[in-house]
Amino acid sequence: MSAPLTAPVAIVLAAGQGTRMRSRIPKVLHPLAGRPMLDHVLDALDEAGVGRTIVVTGHGADAVESAVGDRATTVRQEPQRGTADALRCGLAASPDEAAELVVTMGDVPLQPSMLYATLLDALRGRSAAIALVSARLDDPSGYGRLVRGADGSVAAVVEESDADEAQRAIPEINVGTYAFDAAWLRAAIGRVPASASGEYYLTDLVSVAVADGRAVAVVDAPDAADAMGINDRVALAYAEERMRRRINERHMRNGVTIIEPATTRIDATVEIGQDARIEPGTTLAGSTVIAQDAVIGPNAHVRDSRIGPRSHVWASVIEESTVAEDVEIGPFAHLRPGAEIGARCRIGNFAEVKKTRIGAGTQQHHFSYLGDAEIGENVNVGAGSVTANFDGTAKHRTVIEDGASIGVDTMMVAPVTIGEGATTGAGAVVTRDVAPGKTVVGMPARPIEMRRTRSAPADAGEPGAGQAPVPSGADRNP
Ligand code: UD1
Ligand code: MG
Repeated sequence: MSAPLTAPVAIVLAAGQGTRMRSRIPKVLHPLAGRPMLDHVLDALDEAGVGRTIVVTGHGADAVESAVGDRATTVRQEPQRGTADALRCGLAASPDEAAELVVTMGDVPLQPSMLYATLLDALRGRSAAIALVSARLDDPSGYGRLVRGADGSVAAVVEESDADEAQRAIPEINVGTYAFDAAWLRAAIGRVPASASGEYYLTDLVSVAVADGRAVAVVDAPDAADAMGINDRVALAYAEERMRRRINERHMRNGVTIIEPATTRIDATVEIGQDARIEPGTTLAGSTVIAQDAVIGPNAHVRDSRIGPRSHVWASVIEESTVAEDVEIGPFAHLRPGAEIGARCRIGNFAEVKKTRIGAGTQQHHFSYLGDAEIGENVNVGAGSVTANFDGTAKHRTVIEDGASIGVDTMMVAPVTIGEGATTGAGAVVTRDVAPGKTVVGMPARPIEMRRTRSAPADAGEPGAGQAPVPSGADRNP
């Protein structure tokens, strides 16, 4: 649904260097709950229903602009001469007919979307030039302080670097989110003086409004902890913790059990079905989708994957893979990108799967590797079995058809196909296709009846020769 034309325009300031992060990555691209900090700011603006968003970029502009993509218009501030200068750039790119503007900063990502509506109400209610958000902090250091006059109205915002001792003791801070009367702002922006540091401070617009006899409305932040501006990695870690808690609580309210929220990390982008249970020490990242009644953890790490209903993932790592319903994974399994696990499969201890589709009911209980393979239904993969998929130059595919039984320690030298219902003996090295229903043993593996016919004394030294059929060794349903 497109927002009405009268919806306010938002400007997000994101051009600063973020020196205090001491990073090569632009500050607003540092991830929070798995997504760039800036994304959370844009989410809140979208939810608030702003008509159009303009992001002011500068430091690391190429990277920031590509992260923004088509979510917002971008405009560059070159050079970066402070927040008022950044706002001037944003204003130049905003449509003339916009009567109200909301302005926020790319480094204040925890603010709830409803704040914008509250700010606009305050602006309109008092016919103010500016409405701003304030918070009272136990430790206000680093923030601009609200200086109030004798009548309690805001007289100015003083930046910490310019504040005297008495002003530094003020616990009420400027959060950095504003609503403006756009017409007033257009006329006033050029009147912001340069600060002692040579930068132009957006916060000096407060004194300009007061000098114009215009009201400055103040809205209390609903929760002071959400007012946090991320200026260094310490603040980033606190914000992460807070964002994670918020995400966990959202899932719990939606019917997901989280046994130990403090050790559970769920990215903002993850979806979880009803009555799923997330056990301690679990990370769910990226575009992961967990279906209902699934049990994930303890100690599972799932990234960009889909886990089906009632499946259980225990102490395992799953990346870019899909798992169908009623599957048991782990402990200590690793599904690498491109694993597709069918219904009711069992993928056990130290099993590794990569770019491989596994049919329903197949069991891979013990340490083994299946890569670049197509595995049928109800296959049993014995302990230690490996698809030798790489010949030193290229990767080759292995096919194991329905109902095959792969004996312990089988090496499948790809490309190779093991037919439906076929069996390989313990330690078989399969270099050629195995016909359906056949049993092969030895190195290189040969059909067992061939071994029997060649079991004359002269052949006794050949591996597998003269032996009774080698048991597959795999415990089928332990
Ligand atoms: C700013 C406020 C301060 C407030 C605090 C809240 C000013 C002068 N100060 O201080 O009152 O308490 O936020 O977190 O506004 N930016 C640009 N171009 C520039 C400079 C900065 O786009 O030339 C952007 C940055 O990318 C950042 C935002 O503006 O997203 C704020 O800049 P930052 O340097 O973090 O300001 P603070 O010192 O935190
Ligand atoms: Mg800041």
